[in-house]
Amino acid sequence: MKIRGVSARAILDSRKEKTILVSIQTNVGDFSASSPSGKSTGKYEAKSYNKSLEEDIKAIKQMADYFSEEFIEKFEDLRRVEDIADRQIGANTLFALESAVLKAIAKEKKKEVWELINSSAKKFPTLAGNCIGGGKHSNLNKKPDFQEFLLIPESKDVEKAFEINKEAKKEVKETLLREDSKFKGEKNDEDAWAVSLNEKEALDVLKKTKLNLGIDVAASGFYKRKNYNYKNPVFKRSSEEQLEYISNLIKNFNLFYIEDAFDENDFESFSKLLKRFPDRLIVGDDLTTTNAKRLEKAIKMKSINAIIIKPNQIGSLIKMKETIELARKSNIKLVFSHRSGETDETMLADLAFGFQSDFFKCGITGKEREAKIKRLIEIEKSL
Ligand code: PGA
Ligand code: ZN
Repeated sequence: MKIRGVSARAILDSRKEKTILVSIQTNVGDFSASSPSGKSTGKYEAKSYNKSLEEDIKAIKQMADYFSEEFIEKFEDLRRVEDIADRQIGANTLFALESAVLKAIAKEKKKEVWELINSSAKKFPTLAGNCIGGGKHSNLNKKPDFQEFLLIPESKDVEKAFEINKEAKKEVKETLLREDSKFKGEKNDEDAWAVSLNEKEALDVLKKTKLNLGIDVAASGFYKRKNYNYKNPVFKRSSEEQLEYISNLIKNFNLFYIEDAFDENDFESFSKLLKRFPDRLIVGDDLTTTNAKRLEKAIKMKSINAIIIKPNQIGSLIKMKETIELARKSNIKLVFSHRSGETDETMLADLAFGFQSDFFKCGITGKEREAKIKRLIEIEKSL
């Protein structure tokens, strides 16, 4: 496959904010792909754009001639794409470009994108869906300090799990309308219910679904001057107090999944939590930012047993693959994840299945999120 032309433009994501769409013209047709964008981004994520989205659009146009020299036919050839794009574009633009390239290779090989990664992939990831939201993803004044409260049905059948989550999310709405006097059905950035409850009250509501529960504390978002600064209700917790508080929540609500319970620099507190709860998923997101070096540190310090994989946190799919391989070697579970600002792009589903992710964290409803879950179901049905 040969790339004959490359261009990019800004489109609006689910938050109505600008993100990038990259298009390529090849000998087998034209292909486009877009990148999502995060809001509660980790400090160690790669920059979304080199200087700005507009500058990335200009930069990518100037690369077109270089691409035309290359013959690209497999996933590993993305390395050559990266050599050309080297540091001229940011992570969002690179991810969109590489996604478009994967689509073109798949077309030429008459394969699905996931088959380019692992043609014998079989196992489907477990769905983890954001049902109630707070933190930076909610615009309410009074809201949970934690960012996400997740439902994680056990079913390995993706279509069934999707139905279970949608049904549970409806039930949760009914409960919220009864129990949260301020709630009128508001939604947050990820189409989860935006409530004014605190985290315990939110978990009390979710407990009624009888599904496995998870939280994304996104703790870096409210960590300042050595304290976790809770607003609902106002309360400061030191790292030790945070460890005790999270431990109590895990016990009281039998939490199955705990993401970013501490600040993104605090590998040690993650280690303490994992030591106490080795049978729960202790997940790094802002802690690890899909970055192999940070994962290496987390492995050495025994900080986590699961890692969020967000392709645009690192941009390069080759680097993302290195992170995945390191995780696999060390028995760290993979959680492929959407971003809070999403597009209709479904590449995430192919990557998650191709790399045999253990979990797929992609919301429950909203067309951008459902598009990815539906793509996963489509793959399921094709096998
Ligand atoms: P983000 O949040 O996409 O806004 O970074 C998602 C998450 O923290 O998991
Ligand atoms: Zn997170």
